[in-house]
Amino acid sequence: MKDPRPGEPLIVFKDVRVGFDEGNVLDGISFQVSSGETKVLLGESGSGKTLIMKLAAGLMRADSGQIMVTGQEITGMTENELLDFRRRIGFVFQESALFDSLTVEENVAFRLREENVAEEEIDKRVRETLRFVEMEEAIEKYPAELSGGMRRRVSMARALVDRPPIVFYDSPLRSFRGACAAGFRWRALSSIDRPSCSMTRPPRASIRSRRKRSSL
Ligand SMILES: Nc1ncnc2c1ncn2[C@@H]1O[C@H](COP(=O)(O)OP(=O)(O)O)[C@@H](O)[C@H]1O
Ligand SMILES: [Mg+2]
Repeated sequence: MKDPRPGEPLIVFKDVRVGFDEGNVLDGISFQVSSGETKVLLGESGSGKTLIMKLAAGLMRADSGQIMVTGQEITGMTENELLDFRRRIGFVFQESALFDSLTVEENVAFRLREENVAEEEIDKRVRETLRFVEMEEAIEKYPAELSGGMRRRVSMARALVDRPPIVFYDSPLRSFRGACAAGFRWRALSSIDRPSCSMTRPPRASIRSRRKRSSL
């Protein structure tokens, strides 16, 4: 997967539809995000934000429509191609999704060990990435010993450790308390030297619409 140049389309959705037993959740979703561009997808809980990210990250398949990421059409990929694509992107899940039985170090190093990277290099990269998210001190801890915000930061380190060409953050402003924490988050997002894409939901007080569909 090549790194996109500024201004090049990074993510393209064309008439994408996804439905479950209860009917369509996404219907006729089309949008484009270019490298270096900020686009916000706002929607209340259950409107399909996570779904859009999972589709773009190749974690789920669309029922119809086309999805292109970094110039590759992922909707036309075989299972093996999709598996390979997923291995090369970073994804920070809304609920962290860390392995509870592994330490912070083991969680962050997971993909590197799967790829048989030398232990010396793993140690260097894991420490460097944990330092970036200000979590190096927690390296030997287990997820259960950390707060929600700390788990998110470890999850962020896990997504960044093998330097993927694109990183997806689901609801990046969740579980960060206070302006100070939000400041950290923005610094973290803006200093990552690669394209990243994030989805968020409006603060509770600003939700007026009861419509259950995402809009862009
Ligand atoms: N694997 C699935 N099976 C059935 N329904 C799903 C699945 N994934 C998501 N949904 C449904 O799709 C809708 C959108 O979910 P989601 O993308 O998680 O919303 P958001 O992130 O905007 O809160 C929800 O109603 C959810 O129940
Ligand atoms: Mg969500």
